[in-house]
Amino acid sequence: MSQSVLIRGGTVVNADCERRADVLCVDGLIAAVGENLTAQAPAGCQVVEAGGQYVLPGGIDPHTHMNFPFMGTRTVDDFYSGTSAALAGGTTSIIDFVIPDPQQPLMDAYQTWRGWAESAAADYGFHVAITWWDESVHRDMGTLVQQEGVNSFKHFMAYKNAIMCDDETLVNSFRRALELGAMPTVHAENGELVYLLQQEVLKMGITGPEGHPLSRPPMVEGEAANRAIAIADVLGVPIYIVHVSCQESADAIARARARGQRVYGEVLAGHLVIDDSVYRHPDFNVAAAHVMSPPFRAKPHQDALWRGLQSGQLHTTATDHCTFCAAQKAAGQGNFAKIPNGCGGVEERMAVIWDAGVNTGRLTPSEFVAITSANTAKLFNLYPRKGLIAVGADADLVVWDPAGSKTLSAKTHHSKNDFNVFEGRTVKGIASHTVSRGQLVWVDGDLRTVPGAGRYIKRPAFGPQFSASALRAQVQAPTPVER
Ligand code: URP
Ligand code: ZN
Ligand code: ZN
Ligand code: ZN
Repeated sequence: MSQSVLIRGGTVVNADCERRADVLCVDGLIAAVGENLTAQAPAGCQVVEAGGQYVLPGGIDPHTHMNFPFMGTRTVDDFYSGTSAALAGGTTSIIDFVIPDPQQPLMDAYQTWRGWAESAAADYGFHVAITWWDESVHRDMGTLVQQEGVNSFKHFMAYKNAIMCDDETLVNSFRRALELGAMPTVHAENGELVYLLQQEVLKMGITGPEGHPLSRPPMVEGEAANRAIAIADVLGVPIYIVHVSCQESADAIARARARGQRVYGEVLAGHLVIDDSVYRHPDFNVAAAHVMSPPFRAKPHQDALWRGLQSGQLHTTATDHCTFCAAQKAAGQGNFAKIPNGCGGVEERMAVIWDAGVNTGRLTPSEFVAITSANTAKLFNLYPRKGLIAVGADADLVVWDPAGSKTLSAKTHHSKNDFNVFEGRTVKGIASHTVSRGQLVWVDGDLRTVPGAGRYIKRPAFGPQFSASALRAQVQAPTPVER
């Protein structure tokens, strides 16, 4: 039987324009966008009255860690609870990470994560981390791109003695990614400096969470961002920097872009609105709950991140949703370096950015769509299937009530975690309805997600940035002198 939803009377917002239109979804796809579609709705069509509300492409969070085994423990949210929380906040797709242990075959790790993700309630894809190098890694990158629809690889420049990638691996992997038409991405922090500073801060007798930001100052991020960008420039490959948290790395990206380099930056909702005072909270549990890397920064860095998004020098927004509860964070009592790194936010991202971005005039609704959905879809080659409201696109939509408000809290969120980094923040502008694969999964506070309803989305290689980069390399190719 055909399943259909008609969203009636709203203002449809895409990244390029907004207009009053109904949206008809049939069998998981957008079947029509236009005025007065009521007559076209099939019998039994569910109707959402969206008068006074916006209709946006569902959010895409390009950076989450569900069911992630990390720092001796595993995240509280699995793929079902994490994607359910996402849907409650208007995010209809995530790109999570397969993270092989050093020496673990990539394909083994990939199959393991695919198995874990079968419970997802929303669509998902994977970046695959390159944590070591040999010929099998070179080969498996090819298999992942050509057969499995992976078009991006992640490199952790931090987490020494764990998943950190040295320069040799960065260079080999970036070169291979270029050959395959896949986007290299980096967590930019100098892992050697972090390691050294952690020992030094501990030696000073600073063992609590306030030591965490001291061991990861902004220049540690700036150095790694500059290095990764320089390597990408020499090799002629585009590069995407995840969780840009400070002026130093935002500047590195802006400088490279001014030179004509294809560099893209991602910003986390948390880094836009939370500052580093949280680490001096007298309650260990509260301070430790904010330990993530890169850490929350002093306020001026937030302004730099907003300016980057406003000017188009930074491109996407994410959460790095990676939840650990108080009992797990307690592993770092007496040594901040042992606190599992990570915070939540997959449910709150859209509302926090709307409230702090659109309600303050920093962003237009269309610019909001660009940085919460369309730009990610374009960079990771999901566009126009995702990130756009148009006939034939996936029916992943959010009806956004600009007048609705709520106070964010661990008491009411849908993550399984016991802490919310946005606790007590009242936001205006919330998802009233979410449609995922053509199904109404969030209806005025009622969450109707189904485990396994999400699908793995294959992402083809050679997105538009790659054809242009290849052409540029050809045009600029050096030639020998004929003598
Ligand atoms: O602290 C964080 N961000 N935890 C997750 C792993 C990562 O660095 O992205
Ligand atoms: Zn990271
Ligand atoms: Zn992460
Ligand atoms: Zn309603």
